Amino acid sequence: MATSSDSSIAEELERHCLSLVDRFGAGASPRAFFAPGRVNLMGAHLDYNGGPVMPTAIDRGTFVAVRLRRDRRLRIASVLDARVLEFDLDELPAVRAGRWSDYPIGVLRELCTRVPHDAPGLEILFGGNLPIGAGLSSSASICVGTAFALDRVWGIGLSRQEIVSTALAAERGFVGVQCGIMDPFAIGLARTGHILWLDCKDESSAYLPLDSAHHAIAVADSLVRRELAQGAFNERVQQCAQAFSTLRRHQPSATCLRDISREVLDRHRAELDPILARRAQHVVDEVRRTFRARDALLRGDPSGFGAEMLRAHASLRDLFEVSVPELDQLVESASACAGVLGARLTGAGFGGCVVVLLERGAEERVRARITEDYVRRFHRDPALAIFGGDSGPREVTGF
Ligand code: GLA
Repeated sequence: MATSSDSSIAEELERHCLSLVDRFGAGASPRAFFAPGRVNLMGAHLDYNGGPVMPTAIDRGTFVAVRLRRDRRLRIASVLDARVLEFDLDELPAVRAGRWSDYPIGVLRELCTRVPHDAPGLEILFGGNLPIGAGLSSSASICVGTAFALDRVWGIGLSRQEIVSTALAAERGFVGVQCGIMDPFAIGLARTGHILWLDCKDESSAYLPLDSAHHAIAVADSLVRRELAQGAFNERVQQCAQAFSTLRRHQPSATCLRDISREVLDRHRAELDPILARRAQHVVDEVRRTFRARDALLRGDPSGFGAEMLRAHASLRDLFEVSVPELDQLVESASACAGVLGARLTGAGFGGCVVVLLERGAEERVRARITEDYVRRFHRDPALAIFGGDSGPREVTGF
């Protein structure tokens, strides 16, 4: 069934296709593709530790308009950048430039080896309605959206799983980010009205229904963007690896930090630097919280689920130390409102957004409270938005 967000995505993509014609000139009609962003409700910083995560896709994301050329040239542009980048398909850049275009070029490099040598060149325009760098996974959205669009226009025939793997390989390889697997899976395997349960140890997954008739997902943007966030993220990845290399000696069967028991951590905590002990405790406890949150959802106890979100935020603030005062304020204001079930920072942290799970009907009350508190303290409007769910990457037609 088409939803109101489907029709507004279609309208925006229709305009986006007109922008492609403005940018590249007259020619064949472009095809239009959409890939969502995501919020992560539970399982914070667990993906690269082999733990379970619970993300869900949102109805904001990346727009990709594409048309084929008659030669082997590739022209790519973004609505946020006046430049057009141009290459020959046989001579794609071998070194990243540290710009947005690294993401689609990374994907192109992955897929070029899977198409015939005479595959046609392309004109591609990127855009979207997802805030960039806000913890809503704009980078995985552009990678999955590009992989999906190229697969369709070049007729490669990739499965959803292969699209996810292509996006991940591009981000880890050409772009050079040591990201976990959660984001491309959350986007590539999304199903409307469901939270994805993804076990990052064996990549098994399941869909858990979210009662969207009674509950809504809201996102408040702190508007804090940290230049150094990537470095701080990589530092957390390393700290977890270091903690694991010490603790595994006491639990030889463990293959990742997710496997370490709380008993082993407590018994050998003194062998760890105090910072590493805090990081490890967050991971070990968050694994248990995430299982409890899943159980709460399955037994129809949204309050129990929300309580785990609040505990997760406290741990991200005090033990994993990836929160900032702005995010703490948003969580505090949200949790003081009747009708709010839970709230926590989403994404890596260090700024970005807070995700709030609330009862339908409470939206305006929550918006008023969060905005009033935030404006009083930080003199900015956190622009609380209510997001619908999404069914993952797709071609949008019929306009
Ligand atoms: C970022 C990473 C994800 C995940 C989250 C933290 O969004 O891209 O892989 O590690 O942080 O849960």
